[in-house]
Amino acid sequence: MHDLAVPRVPSALSGLRIGLVGAGRVARALVIALERAGLPVVAVGSRQPERLSPSRYPQPCTPQQAVDQADLVLLTVADDAIAPVTAALRWRAGQAVVHCSGATEVAALDAAAQAGAHTGGFHPLQIFSDPEQAAQRLAGSTAAIEAGPALLPTLQALAAALGMPATVLPPGMRVRYHVAAGYAASFLLPVLQEAVALWASFGVDEADALQALLPLARGTLDAAQTRGLAGAVSGPIARGDLGTVQRHLGALETLGPSRTAFYRFLAVSQPALAQQAGRLDEDLRKRLEFLLRDADC
Ligand SMILES: NC(=O)c1ccc[n+]([C@@H]2O[C@H](COP(=O)([O-])OP(=O)(O)OC[C@H]3O[C@@H](n4cnc5c(N)ncnc54)[C@H](OP(=O)(O)O)[C@@H]3O)[C@@H](O)[C@H]2O)c1
Repeated sequence: MHDLAVPRVPSALSGLRIGLVGAGRVARALVIALERAGLPVVAVGSRQPERLSPSRYPQPCTPQQAVDQADLVLLTVADDAIAPVTAALRWRAGQAVVHCSGATEVAALDAAAQAGAHTGGFHPLQIFSDPEQAAQRLAGSTAAIEAGPALLPTLQALAAALGMPATVLPPGMRVRYHVAAGYAASFLLPVLQEAVALWASFGVDEADALQALLPLARGTLDAAQTRGLAGAVSGPIARGDLGTVQRHLGALETLGPSRTAFYRFLAVSQPALAQQAGRLDEDLRKRLEFLLRDADC
């Protein structure tokens, strides 16, 4: 009988020795997640291996030693270091080398490809501010993969072993893909920052404001997950409450033109979403858009 506590390793990964080069936050999260998936990392290469705790980064060693011990090397160095680090290392024909950057083209690994290695990208679509939390969130987060036919099945199996749905990126699209990732990650923060600033204008500090506002933000994200973007639009624009939108604009004008401009910029695409959800008719959508674009006329 299969022991449920022992993860099943897909046959495409069986016996594969996985090494990391670059001992930062993504490396730490991958060490944890791969260990839990039954794929312990054989070595972690660092510029300063003596600084690493072996309980956090198994077998700390130099980058070259990690490359020499591994069949699949995940480069978890800073984006700008990917090409120079790859060029400075000796690779074997048939070895696999993959970087974890969203925005860096796989061509940054050309020095390894010239030595006969299979190269690719494996970008975990998650934030890694806290590696332990990130390791837990990897399952269910997408892995954006790019590789040739020899390596692709291995990366797909790796994603599956980590519980990550895989999406294959077409060549040349990484930067565009990464901009989109930024919108869904840190670009959410300026909106919350503006909301917190408005609460500060009536005397509430940031921690209390966030405490109050984050459940609302989570509710919106949950609604987007279950109902799609159009289905998740709520508030006066979705209801077609022109008077309330006018009052919003009036209140913001007293605080300065940049506040109104920010509101208009974010709000102007919402009537179309609300119409798509069947909540507004054509006439009301146009009237709302006219009101929200008024400053530009
Ligand atoms: N952070 C995220 O949310 C996130 C999400 C998805 C993907 N990624 C990608 O994952 C990769 C690693 O990101 P990270 O957040 O783990 O970065 P990080 O915490 O800053 O760690 C990067 C590591 O790269 C090594 N490094 C930096 N500059 C180097 C250089 N010039 N030469 C050699 N090694 C160098 C360092 O390791 P040593 O000092 O041990 O050599 C450093 O700890 C990046 O490609 C990033 O785009 C990050």
